[in-house]
Amino acid sequence: MNPVAFSRNAAVAVITLDSPPVNALGAAVRAGLVEAIGRANADEAVSAIVIAAAGKAFIAGADISEFGKPPVPPFLPDVLDTIERSPKPVVAAIQGVALGGGLEVALACHARVALPSAQLGLPEIKLGLIPGAGGTQRLPRLIGAAKAFPMMLSGDPIPAGRGLEWGLLDEVVSSDLLATAIRVAEGLAGEGRRPVTSAAVDKLTEADRAAFEVQAKDALRKAGEMPNVPALVEAVRNVFLLPFEEGLAAERKLFLALVDDPRSKALRHVFFAEREIAKVPGIGPEVKPRPIASAAVIGAGTMGGGIAMCFANAGIPVTLIETAQAPLDNGVNRIAAIYDISVQRGSLTPEARAARLALIKPVVGLAGAAGADIVVEAAFEEMGVKQQIFGELDKVAKPGAILASNTSYLDVPTIAAATKRPQDVLGMHFFSPANVMKLLEVVRPKGVADDAIATAVALGRKLGKVPVVVGNGFGFVGNRMLEQRTRAAERLLVAGALPYEVDQA
Ligand code: HXC
Repeated sequence: MNPVAFSRNAAVAVITLDSPPVNALGAAVRAGLVEAIGRANADEAVSAIVIAAAGKAFIAGADISEFGKPPVPPFLPDVLDTIERSPKPVVAAIQGVALGGGLEVALACHARVALPSAQLGLPEIKLGLIPGAGGTQRLPRLIGAAKAFPMMLSGDPIPAGRGLEWGLLDEVVSSDLLATAIRVAEGLAGEGRRPVTSAAVDKLTEADRAAFEVQAKDALRKAGEMPNVPALVEAVRNVFLLPFEEGLAAERKLFLALVDDPRSKALRHVFFAEREIAKVPGIGPEVKPRPIASAAVIGAGTMGGGIAMCFANAGIPVTLIETAQAPLDNGVNRIAAIYDISVQRGSLTPEARAARLALIKPVVGLAGAAGADIVVEAAFEEMGVKQQIFGELDKVAKPGAILASNTSYLDVPTIAAATKRPQDVLGMHFFSPANVMKLLEVVRPKGVADDAIATAVALGRKLGKVPVVVGNGFGFVGNRMLEQRTRAAERLLVAGALPYEVDQA
């Protein structure tokens, strides 16, 4: 199937990308785009061009799976050059995400129209990279470096509305996206206008440069060991120092060096690994998660408190349970203190802090778990304690509630055996601090219902975690690996190695 379709709407050529699932810019899409632009320009009946996309995404960027493999022409920067130099104006019709190379395609177009739900971003930083197809050169020219640099530094997309406000988009329409893009394309052709992003200069003022330099200094201070932050600063700074072509060449060189960097390779591996672990054997989309409207957490210690915060942060009311008032008060105070720090840092408003604390209901005694759709036990790591708690939970928890243990090592079926409902018992292993760490091991013992696992996975995502379904084995996966590493490190110490030598190894 050709991933790039060509059609005509009166005098406008409509080029539609159709490469599921996300229209990534693989070799066939790049070749198809160049061919289609050429065809439109060769056709005398065509006066303007629209690049649109089928499916939920405009373009999610370069095809990440091609990175590190021998490059196949046409290269993306050349494709964009073809678009920007097209003598007939090209308009991007953006729905869904325009990310990375996808946004770079839009930047090379002569105008951009989007739906309000569209998301525009350059997330390469998250893969240990920087934009590699002109993003560092075109985006600052279009919206100013002081707006473009933070976008590239965070990698977080901006909504279409902000894109319009900043001049990244020309129009935002809530319906008839394609028709609007066609109208804009016809308008440009009629006026004989072809605004070329790489030639724009009016946003690159001295004030913009000064503001960017302040941001750059701050970014470099916080960059740690990531080599892509200094590379990004250098690339963006070139906007003020070099002509476009030279800035583009410098960006390309920096980009290619980062593609070979082991840290970027690791982050790309993580990207695909995180998607791979979403595919749980035997649990397809037909297995529906149970609704979770309320939760209970047993144990208000460090882990229990952190887990309760996860629920509150996600807007899910949670009952925090302890055996006595004193440890309960301690737990609640600790949670409040952590939220206070966020307020002081400016990452949480006082109102949000109050709203989150209001979602946490402290209660003494297991009866407090009665109404919860899910109960997460975070008590002492001792089988006797867990069995006693689960035995009591079996009596008070409502039918169909998920009963999860936050155990790090213990055998989940043995815990489940304390209940008459092993189909609802599983492990949800958070990592400390639970309100921060993204990994969540969902332990799937024999005998647990598929929809219970699906519920824990869906809930984990709602809590902002990366849920990984693991088997029931000593230490599951994370601690099982740590255990081996720790044992090896200690053996080296016993054999006479110095601690720093072990760290180096
Ligand atoms: C290859 C990609 C991909 C990409 C997504 N997929 N983006 N494959 N290249 N850029 C694949 C996923 O592996 C997954 O495949 C499927 O598409 C759906 O992705 P999900 O993440 O599961 O879907 P969803 O949650 O809907 O999120 C969609 C998304 C997200 C927002 C687009 O996937 C995303 O953020 N993608 C990465 C975007 C990105 O980093 N772009 C910049 C690339 S670097 P399976 O097989 O598991 O279903 C770049 C540099 C350009 O563009 C410079 C080059 C010179």
